[in-house]
Amino acid sequence: MSIYAQKLATTPHEGQKPGTSGLRKGVPVFQQPLYTENFVQATLTAGLGDKLKGSTLIVGGDGRYFLNDAIQIIIRIAAGNGVRKLIIGRQGILSTPAVSCMIRKYKTDGGIILTASHNPGGPNADFGIKFNCSNGGPAPEGVTNAIFEITKNISELIICPELRCDLDIISSHTFKVEGQGEFEVEVVDSVNDYVQLMKEIFDFEAIKQLFIGGRLNILIDSMNGVTGPYVQRIFHEELGAPASSMIQVEPKDDFGGHHPDPNLTYAADLVNKMKEGEHGFGAAFDGDGDRNMILGHNAFFVTPNDSLAVLANNLECIPYFRKTGIKGFARSMPTAGAVDRVAKVKGAECFEVPTGWKFFGNLMDAGRLSLCGEESFGTGSDHIREKDGVWAVLAWLQVLAAKKKSVQQLLMEHWGLYGRNFFTRYDYEGCDSAPANKMMDGLEALIAEKGIVGRKFSAGGKTYTMAKADNFSYTDPIDSSVSTKQGIRFIFTDDSRIIFRLSGTGSSGATIRLYIEGYEADSSTFEKDAQEVLKPLIQIALEMSKLKELTGRKAPTVIT
Ligand code: G6P
Ligand code: ZN
Repeated sequence: MSIYAQKLATTPHEGQKPGTSGLRKGVPVFQQPLYTENFVQATLTAGLGDKLKGSTLIVGGDGRYFLNDAIQIIIRIAAGNGVRKLIIGRQGILSTPAVSCMIRKYKTDGGIILTASHNPGGPNADFGIKFNCSNGGPAPEGVTNAIFEITKNISELIICPELRCDLDIISSHTFKVEGQGEFEVEVVDSVNDYVQLMKEIFDFEAIKQLFIGGRLNILIDSMNGVTGPYVQRIFHEELGAPASSMIQVEPKDDFGGHHPDPNLTYAADLVNKMKEGEHGFGAAFDGDGDRNMILGHNAFFVTPNDSLAVLANNLECIPYFRKTGIKGFARSMPTAGAVDRVAKVKGAECFEVPTGWKFFGNLMDAGRLSLCGEESFGTGSDHIREKDGVWAVLAWLQVLAAKKKSVQQLLMEHWGLYGRNFFTRYDYEGCDSAPANKMMDGLEALIAEKGIVGRKFSAGGKTYTMAKADNFSYTDPIDSSVSTKQGIRFIFTDDSRIIFRLSGTGSSGATIRLYIEGYEADSSTFEKDAQEVLKPLIQIALEMSKLKELTGRKAPTVIT
């Protein structure tokens, strides 16, 4: 079919600066005339540079409201700009890890992921657009800054206004674009490539044994996000777990009205069912399938920090790592240091990077990182360049199959060996920006105070001595790029830490994140509640930041 391309005049929209993970805004913002078009044009121009003409991209998203509209816009602008081919998941559905997998497998020039991750979806909730590079990972800051610069001065789009594509049927559509040449849209099965990769990484036969005769009852919650089709195919069809062990597996454009974030607050359905005691293993994923939460019997909670450390300690149970060897570990700065202790014993390198998965990519590309994770419920490896929820669950099941232990037994043993890094995160969502910034300025002033190091802080009968206070800055060991102001850290002489950051993934206002970590080697503490153990540090954090006075918030909105 022959179609025409045209230049269309446009004017800049304000505020199209991509955050930690692409541009995230309310759906009505994206629906403004030429808002999405401008951003897509800027993304293609800056993301692909001189590779734009003739390029191939993977495109897909998590099923949220506005997905199909956004993909049709991408199709029209890609065709106009001389892109050669788009590979799109059926009905636009692709999990974030699946996009990363497919970019790498088909060696495309990159991909566009349509998601606002764990943020709610629907006509009045959030949407997002994120560009991933040819290594399969989120675009680095150099690229996202270049996208933003273009959005500030954009005056023209090149678009095929009449082009539309049916995404419901698996097939290939080819068009002749006047002045550009051939343009192809291939609609593919959303799950196949990803499942194939998982089969190369794990020993499915060994995992299957877990479900025979009901040895292990699992409960997997897709929270009506994108993972439903992946979960059904992998855990039910391939591994033989009963269909009843999967809940909320139908992707919905509003995630059933819920907040698709796998934590103790938002995955309450799963937590409550696990508390009934019928299941030995539970897991949930976020909207786009890169986050995970792991639970044991009776909803025994595995913090993401411990999940990373336990996997690090048992990596040899997984065939992929037996093949590749252990190249190194990494965590984001606010993530508790449990994995560091494993790395030390294993003699492996361990990196501390700023928040955001993109910082792991360079280390992986350089062959220095096998396994990494973040406190924000992200776990993954160098099999792709995104964190990967379904992969994390398979990794846990592979370890459980090899160790023949319960989740709780594994954790108790782990703490017995390494001690326990108690951890909690307090989120204050939807704060006004001005007081939140004022609080961060106050903390900046505090770390700059003379005599802050060595100062003693007391609460609840405990006294901590400040060993280091700074605003975290990171120099990438591979490309030497520097990222400053990545979070205010107060580190005490016993390795306890208090960290403050403003979230980079919200779509409006400010979210303050307070991270607290305390290390205990005394086994009599291991079964205690983190909230109880960390109470003195929490009190010190609230006092030093004046958080309550400045924001008027008496309690956090979410505790993880
Ligand atoms: C996304 C990124 C993660 C990051 C998280 C931080 O999920 O992919 O790598 O840890 O955002 O979010 P925040 O809201 O704390 O900036
Ligand atoms: Zn996500």
